[in-house]
Amino acid sequence: MNIILLGLPGAGKGTQAKIIVEHLHIPHISTGDLFRKAAQERTALGLKAKAYMDTGELVPDEITIGIAEDRLAQSDCKEGFLLDGFPRNLNQAHALKSYLAASGKAIDHVIYVKVDERLLFERLTGRRVCSGCGATYHIAYQPQAVEGRCNSCGGVVIQRDDDQADTVAERLNINKALTDQLADHYKTEGSLRVIDGSKEIGDVTEQLLKIFAAP
Ligand code: AP5
Ligand code: ZN
Repeated sequence: MNIILLGLPGAGKGTQAKIIVEHLHIPHISTGDLFRKAAQERTALGLKAKAYMDTGELVPDEITIGIAEDRLAQSDCKEGFLLDGFPRNLNQAHALKSYLAASGKAIDHVIYVKVDERLLFERLTGRRVCSGCGATYHIAYQPQAVEGRCNSCGGVVIQRDDDQADTVAERLNINKALTDQLADHYKTEGSLRVIDGSKEIGDVTEQLLKIFAAP
């Protein structure tokens, strides 16, 4: 099954993706995670991407489309994949469609995880991530273990550089119109489903699994 999770920053795409891929046995592909890994490894691409990410801007399409296609070409994507954070504009959506069509593939589900915008700011500024295993926490909704240590690996739990309040506001601004355009595009194509991402994490997962279980 080939899936796209659409949604504004903080909608819960990453949180849900990690749960869903365990059920569907497909890889979770997050362009944000790929960029953060490259930045951590201090590759040329990673350092270039980091400069954009730190200000909340989008990384240019020529870099982003390349990194997404390289990941999709790996053998674990043969039976399906879940894309999180890609595509993020119409140009990337068109590039993805052409790339998949060249190998006779298409997207099966585009799911827009819609969340009341008032919640997004709080979710992002309260998010904490494990520097060891990448697990996601929230100071109010998903607390980590005591003394800032990860529940699953014991790693140090930190705040993402782009989750500072001013960068969060910029990210929401930049992504709003683009996400609406993408939702309209996939609606016209007939592949869009909208779910309520404002509910509790378990409820959102339930909505998603229902869609994937439908014949
Ligand atoms: P990326 O890493 O993709 O960030 P994003 O899209 O801004 O999305 P987030 O990861 O912030 O949000 P999420 O929806 O995954 O929320 P999460 O599940 O963590 O991209 C980062 C940057 O990389 C971009 O700004 C850009 O520069 C660059 N980039 C990436 N892709 C690109 C592309 N295609 N083109 C160009 N540039 C690109 O949840 C958030 C918080 O809420 C967590 O603390 C979580 O615990 C909590 N939470 C989640 N669900 C719930 C719930 N139901 N109830 C309560 N709390 C919840
Ligand atoms: Zn961890």
